[in-house]
Amino acid sequence: MSETATPELITVRTEGRVGVITLNRPKQLNALNDQLMTELGAALQAFDGDEGIGCMIITGSEKAFAAGADIGAMATYTFADVYKGDYITRNWETIRSVRKPVIAAVSGFALGGGCELAMMCDFIIAADNAKFGQPEIKLGIIPGAGGTQRLPRAVGKAKAMDMALTGRMMDAIEAERAGLVSRVVPLDKLMDEALGAALMICEFSQPSVMAAKECVNRAFEGGLADGVMFERRLFHALFATADQKEGMDAFVNKRKAVFQHQ
Ligand code: CAA
Repeated sequence: MSETATPELITVRTEGRVGVITLNRPKQLNALNDQLMTELGAALQAFDGDEGIGCMIITGSEKAFAAGADIGAMATYTFADVYKGDYITRNWETIRSVRKPVIAAVSGFALGGGCELAMMCDFIIAADNAKFGQPEIKLGIIPGAGGTQRLPRAVGKAKAMDMALTGRMMDAIEAERAGLVSRVVPLDKLMDEALGAALMICEFSQPSVMAAKECVNRAFEGGLADGVMFERRLFHALFATADQKEGMDAFVNKRKAVFQHQ
């Protein structure tokens, strides 16, 4: 399908300035095939370019955020197929190019590529029934969308090795304790919590929100000295925004800031 066609495997809606994308392939527990990932990438890019949107949420169903890459679709691939075509995860990098914040609201299974997709988002809010795992080892493969790199950065080597080598799942409580998720809430409060966080982010100055995201990602992906210098440059640059004047003037004059996102 082309990037402009109506999506079939996701649904897209807005709540105020928040773009909400729901993975919608319920019979396959939201298994991530090429079409779904293309639709997801296109929806994220559309929201990213939309002046009316300040933050995005990706969510799934109660039973599954996503149970991984589509095993049926890749079962008969050879090395030559996947290597030459860069198959399975070739269009996943789009998610990382999005500059506005993306929150993963996870309930149920987030396994394999589903866990990797959640980790590509800026932070994860989990329902108390969420289960995270990298079970690829059981299929005779390894994680292929950044799992071996992002999981140890999030939870440390010991738990990442445990999960990647045994394929065991982590429940929501363990995931929060380990630093993989930022909050755990009852299942029926998941979307309220995610929307609350997203709407709060939308209220803040968009340039400073985007700069904060870039800087934290720099910490996650690079070295300390480089990250501190990068942060300093953006910190200084924000003094060129009208929102910085507004935010500080509001504080000094004991009133609520009203940001214009510029
Ligand atoms: N791909 C394709 N189909 C999947 C799927 C996947 N990753 N996960 C589940 N499904 C399908 C099942 O085949 C089943 O379809 P049918 O009804 O047609 O048989 C349907 O979804 C429901 O699944 P189950 O009957 O298995 O449901 P369950 O509640 O008994 O078990 C589960 C749930 C534990 C998540 C189990 O489905 C499971 O283990 N799924 C596979 C998880 C996995 O291995 N993920 C990693 C994939 S590889 C990867 O992601 C590579 C990468 O790094 C990019």
